[in-house]
Amino acid sequence: MHYPDYRPRRMRKNENLRRMIRETALTVDDMVAPFFVVPGKKVKKPIHSMPGHFQLSVDYLVSEIAATRDAGIPAVILFGIPETKDDRGTGAFAEKGIIQEAVRAVKKTVPDIVVITDVCLCGYTSHGHCGILDDNGVNNDTTIAVLAEAALSHARAGADMVAPSAMMDGQVLAIREELDEGGFETLPIMAYSAKYASAFYGPFRDAAESAPQWGDRKGYQMDPANGDEAIREMSLDVEEGADIIMVKPALPYLDIVRRACEEFDLPVAAYSVSGEYAMIQAAVQMGWLDGDTVMMEALTSIKRAGADIIITYFARAAAALIA
Ligand code: PBG
Repeated sequence: MHYPDYRPRRMRKNENLRRMIRETALTVDDMVAPFFVVPGKKVKKPIHSMPGHFQLSVDYLVSEIAATRDAGIPAVILFGIPETKDDRGTGAFAEKGIIQEAVRAVKKTVPDIVVITDVCLCGYTSHGHCGILDDNGVNNDTTIAVLAEAALSHARAGADMVAPSAMMDGQVLAIREELDEGGFETLPIMAYSAKYASAFYGPFRDAAESAPQWGDRKGYQMDPANGDEAIREMSLDVEEGADIIMVKPALPYLDIVRRACEEFDLPVAAYSVSGEYAMIQAAVQMGWLDGDTVMMEALTSIKRAGADIIITYFARAAAALIA
């Protein structure tokens, strides 16, 4: 079928015709909204590289999450910034740690939203690396034991799902076993399976105060040049018991999102990271891009690539437009 018999423009003549053949529909059900929580009361500190986002104390967090629920968004993912950090990241699994307190408060006041916690040590270690150090760098096997302990403490605080993001080998298995032993065999794991060593995390590290004090994360996060390796990482997480596999970042890695959907029959999440948000917001502030249109186009492209779940700092803004 080709011109002049077939003219694709016939079905683009007006919005109703376009609606009839539209293949991808973004809904609020697709979205997860991230939040950063800090100790204290009545704290709402702007994150400069992420306009519209704040470090929130638990009291403000709870009301923001209630508004997120009211906007129809089914889930949030929480990141904690502890009062103090140490070289072993003990704040990550403290019973009264920032994230544990936040989860308890949110589940008490907004029980009907899915609370996901990020399981990593970088926000809790004084050196800012995602695990426990030894003479050779980040020690994999001591780290996964601590990650498992952190995940269990989140579960005990009431988290509905845990999301390990440290990119340690065997972390999903270690967490699955610890959760099962602790009686949380029904608690799902969303694994940051293909997480790249990306410069697009820059604004997040300001928000979470988690930048490595020396070196970088290339010894554990993936090389941006690799695609087949992402498939190997995802297969391992599937075997280790992941319930959702994730690709992160999203926009520069949509080929990986697509491959993930084709290769695995688990739900695929895509994390549209802080730098993707900052990049759009900066251009909008300069008057160079139209914010709402670009936001919807970017989110739609992530869904069109195949993502079942989109973690995005635009969740609330997009929900307001979809509704
Ligand atoms: C923790 C973690 C990071 C992000 C999510 N979990 C930062 C990192 O690995 O440096 C990044 C999220 C974002 O940039 O929005 N390890």
